[in-house]
Amino acid sequence: MSDDHSALRSTIASVLDRARARTLALTDAVGDDELCTQHSPLMSPLVWDLAHIGNQEELWLVRDLGGREPVRNDIDDLYDAFQHPRASRPQLPLLSPAEARAYTQTVRDKAFDVLDRDPLSGPRLSANGFAFGMIAQHEQQHDETMLATHQLRRGAPVLHAPAPPPSARRVSGEVVIPGGLFEMGTSTDAWALDNERPAHFVDVAAFAIDRAPVTNDQYMAFIDDDGYARQELWSREGWAHRNASMLSAPLFWRRDSDGSWWRRRFGLIEPVPAAEPVVHVSFHEAEAFARWAGKRLPTESEWEKAARWDPASGRSRRYPWGDEEPAAHHANLGQRHLQPAPVGAYPAGASPLGVHHLIGDMWEWTSSHFRGYPGFAHFPYAEYSEVFFGAAHRVLRGGSFGTDAVAIRGTFRNWDYPIRRQIFAGFRLARDVPAEEAT
Ligand code: AVJ
Ligand code: FE
Repeated sequence: MSDDHSALRSTIASVLDRARARTLALTDAVGDDELCTQHSPLMSPLVWDLAHIGNQEELWLVRDLGGREPVRNDIDDLYDAFQHPRASRPQLPLLSPAEARAYTQTVRDKAFDVLDRDPLSGPRLSANGFAFGMIAQHEQQHDETMLATHQLRRGAPVLHAPAPPPSARRVSGEVVIPGGLFEMGTSTDAWALDNERPAHFVDVAAFAIDRAPVTNDQYMAFIDDDGYARQELWSREGWAHRNASMLSAPLFWRRDSDGSWWRRRFGLIEPVPAAEPVVHVSFHEAEAFARWAGKRLPTESEWEKAARWDPASGRSRRYPWGDEEPAAHHANLGQRHLQPAPVGAYPAGASPLGVHHLIGDMWEWTSSHFRGYPGFAHFPYAEYSEVFFGAAHRVLRGGSFGTDAVAIRGTFRNWDYPIRRQIFAGFRLARDVPAEEAT
C-alpha cells in the first residue's frame, strides 16, 4: 500500500519482524520438552510466553484494532497473566509447542493484514501506529523475560553472542546536576506507554550522580567489608529479607575456596569480571551498598533528569546522547551481547554532563515507588501499569543488554518487587549536594 504512512508502515513491519525473530531464537534454542518445563517458580514455561505473545497480539491488533473475528477466543483465559500466577502455569492445559508456534504465526499474518489496511491515524489506538508499537514492545518485554528464564535454566549453554566492546575511556567519579525545573515524562512520543505520560515539570534539587554504575569489583569490596552482615546498612524490610533468603552475594555468584568469585552466565561458569556493572542484585542489596558507600540511590526524577536534561537548551531529550534512535555505538541493547559491557565501553552514549551507561547494560534500581504522574490516565488497559501503582514496587530505569531499542527510552519506566534478583538489574549511586557545591 502506498500512502503518507508508508515509512511508518515499514518501520512497524520491521520492529514486529525483529521481535518475532528474537522470540523464535529464544524458543527454538531448547527442545520441546524444555519449552514446557518451569526453570523457576518465578518464571513461566517458555511455551506460555510464546502463546501469550500471540494472544496479546490477537486481542489488540486482530480483534480490537482490526475488528476481525477471533482466531481462538477459547484460550484468552489461559494466557491472561492475571488469571494464573506464574507458578501455576505449567499445570494449565497450555497449547503444545507446535500449536503455540502455529497460533502465533496465524495471528501475525492477520496482524500484517490489519497493518496493510489501518489508517495509522484517527483514534488513539490507531494514531501513529500506537497499537502496533505497544504490541512490539510487549513482545520484546517478554523476550527479555524469556532471556531471564534462560539465565535461570540449568544445563549446557544454548545461547551464544559475541563479547561486548572493551572499555574505551576511564569513567569514574560523579557529576553535579544543577537544581531546577526539568520536563519529565512525555506527551508527544508516539509510542510512549501510559505510565510515561503526561509530560510535566518537576523541580529537582541539585544532586550528584555517579558517572558509572557500581561495578563487580566495588561490589566485592562491599561483601569483603561484611556488607551482608551489618544490619545498620540495611532497611528493616531489607534485613528481614536478607535473613529469610540468606543472601550473601548477587544471584548466580559462587566463591571458590581460594576466595575468587565465579558466576554462572547462560550456562557458562566464568570468573566475575571486575569492571563490569554488577547485575542480579535486589533493590535491598543496592540500598545497603549505597549506605555502605555513604551515598544513596537516585530517585526516579533524578535519574531521568540525568538522562534527558540538556544543559545547553534546557530541554529534555529522548536519550542521553540526543534524540537519535539508539545505534550499536550508543548502548548495549537488543541481546547483541549477553552481559553488561565494562564501564567506559560506550562513550558515544554518554550524557552532555558525562554520565555513562544510562541506557542499556543493566536496569538501574531507583529509590522511587511506582506511581502515576499527575494527570495519569490508563491507556489502553489498567492492567499494564495502573494496577501496580503503590508502595509494593520500585522503579527501574534505563534498560539492559536484554532490552530491545523499541522498548527503552529516557522516559521508559519499569518496576518490580524490591526482592527481585533474576532480572538484569544493577544500580548507580547519587547523593545530595550542599547549596554551595550546587552552582
Ligand atoms: C513492565 C516488565 C514489569 O513483564 O511484568 C508484559 C511488562 N506487562 N506483559 C512485566 C509486561 C504485560 C511488565 N514489566
Ligand atoms: Fe504480557
